Amino acid sequence: MDSLISEQVTHVHHWNDSLFSFRVSRQQGLRFENGHFVMLGLEVEGKPLMRAYSIASANYADELEFFSIKVPDGALTSRLQHIRKGDKILLRTKPTGTLIAGNLLPGKRLYLLSTGTGLAPFISIIQDPAVYEQFEQVILVHGVRTVSELAYQDFIQRELPENEFFGDVVREKLHYYPTVTREPYRNTGRITQLLESGKIFSDLGLPAPNVDEDRFMLCGSPAMLKDISNSLDNLGYNNATRSVQGHYVVERAFVEQG
Ligand code: A2P
Repeated sequence: MDSLISEQVTHVHHWNDSLFSFRVSRQQGLRFENGHFVMLGLEVEGKPLMRAYSIASANYADELEFFSIKVPDGALTSRLQHIRKGDKILLRTKPTGTLIAGNLLPGKRLYLLSTGTGLAPFISIIQDPAVYEQFEQVILVHGVRTVSELAYQDFIQRELPENEFFGDVVREKLHYYPTVTREPYRNTGRITQLLESGKIFSDLGLPAPNVDEDRFMLCGSPAMLKDISNSLDNLGYNNATRSVQGHYVVERAFVEQG
């Protein structure tokens, strides 16, 4: 049954003026698959104010982690950005979503394409040892406007490859490709342009994708999802449905809900 529960904030980290992450306690019974989202919120004027948030922590972790934008006049995030350790947040107990490795047909390479806070579910997925068993290579692409929005870099580049249980497969299989559109950086340009020109593949030393071997998960702004889905459709990739595995899966980042 889907019910509303209360959890306690254990940690808050502000990346910059517009982004923050936080962790909350996790009841034993709350089960989810890596890549899922859950409804999360605060009590406002006696009523729950809830929004969908992808879970950024792995499903075996003791706590739940979330990555959020701060929208100054956003009904929820204008309040949520002020949470501190010890505060209570509300959670619905039924995580769900489409960004599940099991929704994809077998393949060699898994591309995780994100913009902004669309990175969140992929932080969970890159901590899943089963994903590295399923794919020979996992390529995490994060597109943002400014360098300060490249959250989780230290975790991806330093902490995860040192993981005592599966750091070796991360070092062997995970490629991380951050790209910035409105400031100078080592990789620049929109993900769409980088895919189209093939620059991502040549930079990473990977072959150009093909329908037999490559799989995609998309999470980001509606415009980015639409553009990449259209390109994939035109190239003959199929979007997975609830009941039929496909070549790619899509979830919108829930940023614009405030
Ligand atoms: P740009 O700076 O050229 O708009 P946002 O913060 O607006 O969600 O954007 C996050 C990142 O996604 C930015 O780098 C932005 O590039 C990029 N972006 C915006 N629209 C698209 C799109 N249709 N396809 C790919 N990337 C996009």
